[in-house]
Amino acid sequence: MPQQIILDVDTGIDDSLALLYLLASPEAQIIGIAATAGNVPTAQVAANTLALLDLAGADEIEVAAGADVPLAVPLRTTEDTHGPQGLGYAELPVSTRPLSDRSAAQMWVDLARANPGSAIGLCTGPLTNLALALRIEPELPRLLRRLVIMGGAFNHPGNTTPTNEWNIHVDPEAAKEVFDAFSAAAPDRRPLVCALDITESIEMRPEHLARLAEAAHSTPIERVAAGDAPEWRSAASNPIIRYLVDAVRFYFDFHDLYDLGYLAHMHDPFAAAVALDPALVLTRPATVDVELAGTITRATTVADWAGMWGREPNADIAIGTDPAVFFERLVTRVGAFARRLYPEPPQ
Ligand code: RIB
Ligand code: CA
Repeated sequence: MPQQIILDVDTGIDDSLALLYLLASPEAQIIGIAATAGNVPTAQVAANTLALLDLAGADEIEVAAGADVPLAVPLRTTEDTHGPQGLGYAELPVSTRPLSDRSAAQMWVDLARANPGSAIGLCTGPLTNLALALRIEPELPRLLRRLVIMGGAFNHPGNTTPTNEWNIHVDPEAAKEVFDAFSAAAPDRRPLVCALDITESIEMRPEHLARLAEAAHSTPIERVAAGDAPEWRSAASNPIIRYLVDAVRFYFDFHDLYDLGYLAHMHDPFAAAVALDPALVLTRPATVDVELAGTITRATTVADWAGMWGREPNADIAIGTDPAVFFERLVTRVGAFARRLYPEPPQ
């Protein structure tokens, strides 16, 4: 039986690679996607996700729109990081498929109740809609088989302020409600947290794009580089490779602009790979809480590794991995998926 996944995204460039990774993984079955405001507004997240599902031949998967704003603060988006529409330099045809009639929060609850103990929740964006779902159904931690979260920073600098990470920064109240809700979770039900500590070791580089093109039998094999003209667009024969080159190149440019190198931290597809195979990471239990009142530390995730607060652990934090293993899986799976979906005509 494939592993059922409830996916909650703020698509976003790396969210789109998480989606493709799951679609390319035979052991995964996405049973619903929640569109959460974050990288771009909710409506754009939903449109991006529908367009990607069309591109990937997966237009039967439900996409439900989430709240337009975080629980307690105005929405902040980051088009400078992910591009004006959230897919970098890529532009996909607008899907004609309608969104789900139910809200993202209601979809979370309905799917968890309909599949008690078997669905894995994977959050690669802010936790707004999961928090709203927990308000509807406080039993969600027991109804889900597991929750995997891309978010936070512990013994590692933030990427949005010196101490906080984007997904938590957008909606810290939601993040606190989620971690608090799992405070009584059994050890095997604690959220598995992929924070910047681990995801900033997942450095995608131009050669990974070239390997993906080779695996997809796409031509030409394009080798993008720092300084390429922003207006350049991929001419790859495979539409998924063409999308990836145009989307990820924007992410390379963003990281390069901030002196991180001509690379891209692939936060979300890594979390997706961990959701399908937790053995990819070494984890350590901790009690996680979220600072809400700090003036310069608001939205910081704090891990009590040693029980100083006298509270049971409510999270398993990923502290070790081999990035090469992940990239081998990403290239092999998504490359083969692209080749199957868009076979090259016989030469
Ligand atoms: O901080 C990285 C996270 O924020 C990723 O999920 C990225 O897509 C953005 O949502
Ligand atoms: Ca994301």
